[in-house]
Amino acid sequence: MTRKILVTSALPYANGSIHLGHLVEYIQTDIWVRFQKMQADTTCHYVCADDTHGTPIMLRAEKEGITPEQLIARVWQEHYDDFAAFHVEFDNYGSTNSDETRQCAETIYATLKDKGLIEVRSIEQYYDPVKNMFLPDRFIKGECPKCHAKDQYGDNCEACGAAYAPTDLIEPYSAVSGAKPELRNSDHYFFKLSADTCQQFLRQWTRSGSLQPEAANKMQEWLGAEGENKLTDWDISRDAPYFGFKIPGTEDKYFYVWLDAPVGYMGSFKQFCDRENREGHPINFDEYWLPQSQPDSGMDARRQGGGDAGIPVGRLGAADAANNADTPSVVATELYHFIGKDILYFHALFWPAMLQHAGYRTPTKLFAHGFLTVNGEKMSKSRGTFITARSYIDHIKNTEYLRYYYAAKLNGTMEDIDLNLEDFVAKVNSDLIGKYINIASRCAGFVNKIFNGEIPLIHQRWIEDMNGKREKPFWDGLKKLMRSSEEIASAYEQRDFGKALRLIMALADETNRYIAEKEPWAVAKRVDNPAEDDNLKDICANALNAFRLLTLYLKPVLPMLAENVEAFFNIPPLKWDDAQTLLPAGHRINEYKHLATRLDPKLIEAMVAANQESLKPVPESHSQQRHAEAQQHHAPSQAIPSSPPSPKGGEAALASGAASTVPPFAKGGLGGISPVAETISIDDFMKVDLRVAKIVNAEHVEGAEKLLKLTLDIGEEKPRTVFAGIKSAYNPEKLKGRMTVMVANLAPRKMKFGMSEGMVLAASGEAPGLFILSPDDGAQPGMRIK
Ligand code: MSP
Ligand code: ZN
Repeated sequence: MTRKILVTSALPYANGSIHLGHLVEYIQTDIWVRFQKMQADTTCHYVCADDTHGTPIMLRAEKEGITPEQLIARVWQEHYDDFAAFHVEFDNYGSTNSDETRQCAETIYATLKDKGLIEVRSIEQYYDPVKNMFLPDRFIKGECPKCHAKDQYGDNCEACGAAYAPTDLIEPYSAVSGAKPELRNSDHYFFKLSADTCQQFLRQWTRSGSLQPEAANKMQEWLGAEGENKLTDWDISRDAPYFGFKIPGTEDKYFYVWLDAPVGYMGSFKQFCDRENREGHPINFDEYWLPQSQPDSGMDARRQGGGDAGIPVGRLGAADAANNADTPSVVATELYHFIGKDILYFHALFWPAMLQHAGYRTPTKLFAHGFLTVNGEKMSKSRGTFITARSYIDHIKNTEYLRYYYAAKLNGTMEDIDLNLEDFVAKVNSDLIGKYINIASRCAGFVNKIFNGEIPLIHQRWIEDMNGKREKPFWDGLKKLMRSSEEIASAYEQRDFGKALRLIMALADETNRYIAEKEPWAVAKRVDNPAEDDNLKDICANALNAFRLLTLYLKPVLPMLAENVEAFFNIPPLKWDDAQTLLPAGHRINEYKHLATRLDPKLIEAMVAANQESLKPVPESHSQQRHAEAQQHHAPSQAIPSSPPSPKGGEAALASGAASTVPPFAKGGLGGISPVAETISIDDFMKVDLRVAKIVNAEHVEGAEKLLKLTLDIGEEKPRTVFAGIKSAYNPEKLKGRMTVMVANLAPRKMKFGMSEGMVLAASGEAPGLFILSPDDGAQPGMRIK
């Protein structure tokens, strides 16, 4: 009996880089998928795509002077490469901006409309009269109506946490152009979630076991008590200009990005099916997306993915389901979405309601996870812990270390997970290298050197052992390793990867104890005695077979390493059932090459320092960095948001990244520059002590990618030292003797390379280049600038 599984990860926004937070999700999903793919009786497909639509992407492309299509094509490649480097292997990585997604979205919309579940209503919304566009909530700023903090977004206040409508803001302004927004009317399309049929369906669905208990509770809160009808209709349209799919039958209305984003799961899978069918591997899209023909099949499928309801469900669930089914030939396909807790609302309410009423199947289960913290705190640029996937790859290279660490921390719940950088190094070195790799490096050499690379006849010896002819050459630990397969599989199935790794490492410990006790290195010195020769063979055979089984169990987490071990053992790719076999007698292994090295803590330090440098004492020029920070900044990371996204008008608050961008500079656009901060008074400005400075010395800083060390004379007794991120633009020799401008009263900052006692000013923009300022001829060091 075969399980047929379709798995997705949330679609990352196409306006920012993949960072270590994202990777919690993609690595987690990939481990689960790889585990499923190792099962003999399971077919598993894993699809994902870039989430490409919406206002932020449109504005960002405009700011970069390219089309949205150009922007999303570039980002697609970046995302794809990042995932590949972390061994996240999709069966298809698509884009929501595809024909397949468009078709699915249009079909769903048409069915909902036919069923009377779409309603057009005129709503009043803020409009930017300079930029000529309606403004999503996240692009309107103003004073918080509750605590009066300035420059708060249109949907909630970051200072006091209040949620409100953009019309409640005091002195609102457009974050796009800075203009004062006007209220205008426009027709919007709504999905009638308030309809009885939706409320009833969701009430039932959210209790059906498809959600983790904590998520189900949250949903009950959002749905309200029986008969309370808390859900309001969902605004699914946006006015032109918008980057997205035009709503059929309209001229200037587009589907809101969150309407077509989950449809991207279908679109990407459709692309996959079409390709597979072209290549002669038949696969049926409908089988995965239409309701199952067996009346009970949904429940069966749910039992298989279970474990969250507190009932320990072994992986035998699949077989049970098969046996209980009346018609075993019909396989219930299973659909699983891995998501972060911040987007639960969309996946647990809007998405199933859309699917159900458009005649599709609903997800078997949603697997929601928590947010990443680094060293116990939110990722932060100033601490150097806002780390992109690319930066990790550049500094650490071995991406399986992070896979291992995340796996060790994941337990299938919605708790946040912490990447403690010291613990990361310790865990990789003590477990992965010290326990697991160590086994091979201690024993492989003897087999290669002494036995010509031939694994001894372990089965034969075991038989002799059973007949009492030998003294326990077949070590019990190996039997235990083989028997642990079910328990480890069950932990993987339930996404308790932490438990799986604890079980595996305990087995590695036992293997190491066995080796330490048997001292093969001592035995090897006595191999001219035939008994000792046999003894060494047994030790090596036991240890290498143990290493093979440990590799099999670690393979979902460490796919590359496993591949290298398979090459060393000279065996085909390991499957889960191989846990019941040993290396065949007389099997020839290849020469042992070192498999992995210890993680050097200096690499981590350098990575953190490099990320800290990007907060250099000159203006940040790379828009993506800025965006990434904004995206992180607004992602609700502490808890599941306590209130649902604002039902009317604007971009939903929960759309974290997409909707949360810093004001883009409308370069050359109608509005000129947009403000980087609130208006300041002359008194505020006078607090900045700007001085003419003479660069008396400039030099490279060893180990720093972006910094130059400047020695600046501002007429004080002792010159100042300032580290400036201008290495890419200036040769230090050429700077010596030049005059420039510095901020003299900036709080000194301790950097990795020393204390920085101020900041030099430089200009940068969209065009390449970085330009430090110079005063006019005649200005003297120390002169005040005002
Ligand atoms: N585009 C939407 C998802 C649409 S799915 C139909 C989105 N994109 S995102 O890029 O902001 O996030 C993608 C996934 O990564 C989400 O599941 C999100 O929860 C997850 N994470 C983003 N930052 C994260 C952390 N710091 N920690 C853990 N997961 C994080 O949301
Ligand atoms: Zn406030």
